[in-house]
Amino acid sequence: MTDKTGAGVARTDTSHGAAFAGAATGERAAALAKAATLIEALPWLARFHGQTIVIKYGGHAMTEESLRRGFAQDLVFLRYAGLRPVVVHGGGPQISAHLDRLGIQSTFTSGLRVTTPEIMQVVRMVLTGQVNRDVVGLVNEHGPWAVGMSGEDANLFTARRAQPEVAGRTVDIGLVGDITGVEPGAVQSLLGDGRIPVISSVARGTGGEIYNVNADTAAASLAVALGAAKLVVLTDVAGLYADWPASDELISLLTAAELEDLLPALTAGMVPKMTACLHAVRGGVRRAHVLDGRLPRALLLEIFTDEGIGTMVIPDGAKP
Ligand SMILES: Nc1ncnc2c1ncn2[C@@H]1O[C@H](COP(=O)(O)OP(=O)(O)O)[C@@H](O)[C@H]1O
Ligand SMILES: [Mg+2]
Repeated sequence: MTDKTGAGVARTDTSHGAAFAGAATGERAAALAKAATLIEALPWLARFHGQTIVIKYGGHAMTEESLRRGFAQDLVFLRYAGLRPVVVHGGGPQISAHLDRLGIQSTFTSGLRVTTPEIMQVVRMVLTGQVNRDVVGLVNEHGPWAVGMSGEDANLFTARRAQPEVAGRTVDIGLVGDITGVEPGAVQSLLGDGRIPVISSVARGTGGEIYNVNADTAAASLAVALGAAKLVVLTDVAGLYADWPASDELISLLTAAELEDLLPALTAGMVPKMTACLHAVRGGVRRAHVLDGRLPRALLLEIFTDEGIGTMVIPDGAKP
């Protein structure tokens, strides 16, 4: 403890009387350290008060019970701290597990899973009926905050059939959608009411058909539509690796233009994630992050400390 801090303790003793003066020095030091940690968050609390933060909660980041509970606590903390968190979740591993249990075989076209009407029923049931309920339930152990929604509700997400191109030719992968419109009114009402919206990545077509949409993409579209201050994508890796899978050298900061140059070289799950970050930042969201959801308190570390974790994407010309 420094002399300066020591002087502070003496002053505190005089003003608060005998009870505090009697406390063991160690306990007092620990209490002061806690208070110091709280006050370190002051600039971040000031910056983000009243701001909307859209969090993509990945299927792979939600597999462990203690992490799920920690995530729910972090959300409630953000809400009490005056932020407006919104969750958009996927559930790839949970969908695969349920398809296996039902003995439904998936077929793949050029490496992409074909979503038949039968599979889409399972996707909708697992995402909206199971994963969504689980997140809502964990948050609501702390109070009446979370309200679950499907992306279909109140026409939140409208989509049309995706037509991915593989090796120069369009492939049909069934009921997988690209988002064409976002109607954020219902989410805004919930936020205005102090709730934490929890949204499954299912969308509605203009003809009433139901689509599975990538949750990274859905979260970015919603962040833009809500004018969010931040998009945070939680996943099961430390962030964007420069030369994956050969090395685990992390790219911690990228401008939108740098990311745009890098995108064609990316593969697998990082493609929708980094495309989502680019879309968000180009759409007016000031910061987009890919963080390790396996790290306890990842959200709080990112929002309330100087600690640079994961990968951050910033607009061109912005200061980090
Ligand atoms: N350049 C890269 N850096 C980090 N991870 C990468 C990269 N390229 C591909 N990946 C893969 O992307 C995965 C994350 O995407 P995904 O499996 O869709 O997870 P989520 O359920 O969070 O959406 C990582 O676990 C990793 O296997
Ligand atoms: Mg994914």
